Amino acid sequence: MDGNGRWARTRMLPRAIGHREGVKSVRRTVESCIDRGVEALTLFAFSSENWRRPSDEVSMIMDLFVNTLKKEVSALDRNNVRLRFIGERSAFSDNLQKLIDESEAQTAGNRQLELVIAANYGGQWDITQAACRLAEQVSAGVLKPDEITPERLGQEMCVADLPLPDLFIRTGGERRISNFLLWQLAYTELYFTDILWPAFDEDEFGKALDWYANRQRRFGRTGEQVERLRGA
Ligand code: IPE
Ligand code: MG
Repeated sequence: MDGNGRWARTRMLPRAIGHREGVKSVRRTVESCIDRGVEALTLFAFSSENWRRPSDEVSMIMDLFVNTLKKEVSALDRNNVRLRFIGERSAFSDNLQKLIDESEAQTAGNRQLELVIAANYGGQWDITQAACRLAEQVSAGVLKPDEITPERLGQEMCVADLPLPDLFIRTGGERRISNFLLWQLAYTELYFTDILWPAFDEDEFGKALDWYANRQRRFGRTGEQVERLRGA
């Protein structure tokens, strides 16, 4: 979700207003996912590198997390949305950690949409924590080094129980992944748009999904093989 600050700046508004507008885009996008039957949505809300921002912006974003959670969780729960957070949550205030834990517990039984919020998340951190867990198993003698496979490592990654992402959307004009789900994006279709996140609406989401619908996903096979498999 990129472009909140620029959206505000082009309107001569403080960046904070852009972040607040960005929350509206989150709400719209979650509703679109429910309407369209999307199974899982992961939002990159705050990266492990975003702490480098000016401290007043960081604390504004943290307040926005707290207030948004307080305000939105019951509606998400009513809409049968399961909320989960990925990332190193120990860096957050006790209050925010408590809200995160409670929102996960409250919505744990919901099945309409898996809504994953990546907060203080980094793809490299995710791979590292997975490697660390395997290393612990090796040193405890329950896993042999030669039993480590991509599948085994993948099982230790965040939200390994969810399907791998089909579509990645980055708003705001940059063409990079910026340490998002590095491992999980191996075969994901990457969609980049210049639209700034607060302006990302149902229409823009539709465009991304239409683009995705026209991709041929080969997973290393040839186009002919895929056509044949589809016909079979
Ligand atoms: C994304 O918008 C929101 C967060 C990373 C929290 P930005 O704040 O990166 O907006 P720009 O890139 O400055 O426009
Ligand atoms: Mg940005």
